[in-house]
Amino acid sequence: MDSKLEHLDADMQELVRRSVNSILDNQSDSGAIVASPDFAEYGFCWLRDSSFCAFALDLADEHEASARYHDWVRRAVEGITPLMESVTLSRLRGESLDDELMPPARFSMEGVMVHDDWPNFQIDGYGTWLWSLEQHLRATRRETLPNAFASVVRTVASYIHEFALSSCFDVWEENGNDRHTSTLACIYGGLTSASRLLGDELLGDRAIQVRELLLSSAHANGYFVKSSANVDVDASALWLATPFGVVDAHDGFLATTASRIEPSLTLNGGIRRYPTDVYFGSGAWPVLTATLGWYHVATGQLSRAQSCLEWIVEHFDDQGLLGEQFDGELRDPVHHGFWVEKWGPPAKDLMWSHAMFIVLALKLARARAEEDHAANRVDSGRDSGIRTT
Ligand code: BGC
Repeated sequence: MDSKLEHLDADMQELVRRSVNSILDNQSDSGAIVASPDFAEYGFCWLRDSSFCAFALDLADEHEASARYHDWVRRAVEGITPLMESVTLSRLRGESLDDELMPPARFSMEGVMVHDDWPNFQIDGYGTWLWSLEQHLRATRRETLPNAFASVVRTVASYIHEFALSSCFDVWEENGNDRHTSTLACIYGGLTSASRLLGDELLGDRAIQVRELLLSSAHANGYFVKSSANVDVDASALWLATPFGVVDAHDGFLATTASRIEPSLTLNGGIRRYPTDVYFGSGAWPVLTATLGWYHVATGQLSRAQSCLEWIVEHFDDQGLLGEQFDGELRDPVHHGFWVEKWGPPAKDLMWSHAMFIVLALKLARARAEEDHAANRVDSGRDSGIRTT
């Protein structure tokens, strides 16, 4: 693993340790990680949120907890394998499918599919899980996919292979009739991971198709748009590089995307989801501020990444809780009020916020350590008269 807590200074180590403990405390015995313990609508385990949490746990060397999460997913997906196989087959036969009958975005903490009217058809979480599983196996130095996971990985990979280019709800659980840049990024990540884990080139070919679609849209627009129906930017598009590797972090279209995201989505130093968002007045999200910081780390802009990290640090409350979003009530009091009336105040403690804070803190510390190391090599080269390149 390339990022450990010891790269952090003492204060940051304490904050990161506290966030790691928050995730561990909110992981049930079953292995599921609740999205938020204080917001009733989020009392479930989302593949999206929790797969990022597992990644953060692996970065922080909490491999056992990450393993328990992945095993929970294995059992949850085994429970819906007949459904996943039947929708995959129907799709292959060209039959039409009802969104409401598709595999879910979230499960109960016991790993059971919840039958309600949530916009469940969101394929990104399945891709993110495959990516997160591969990261976990690498972190624990396992070269091959354990047998117990083989059939579940195959089921999930076949499902996202078939539905990769379909319209579905996005990572914000909206706009079910469109194709979304960040969803495609997650699918690309999942397909490339599954292709390596299963040694299946067809999955890799599908990933290439996904990338081509994304790039042809970027060529047409000059940057990565939010979706097939919306030329706005969306902060989640930054996942195209980190972590999913559709493009290099220095990609020109991504740079243009980032240069549009920063001015249009910054709110008091944090990052909002997309320009016309109204959810809780569209505050700034730790998840997305960390996402931008991670992109800055990958492009070597460490002081900008540091500003993102500092913004997150300022938003922990006295008990170490880190909410979903901030300042929506100032930006758009009407919509903020609407959502508070409907569901109560936004989540005060969101596990995914902690996860992305951990990721940014560790990635930034690692990049700093590498920079110092390189500078020391240059210095010692100079002292000894050795030429360093
Ligand atoms: C967000 C999702 C997230 C879910 C649970 C929703 O409001 O839009 O991305 O997975 O909350 O945290």
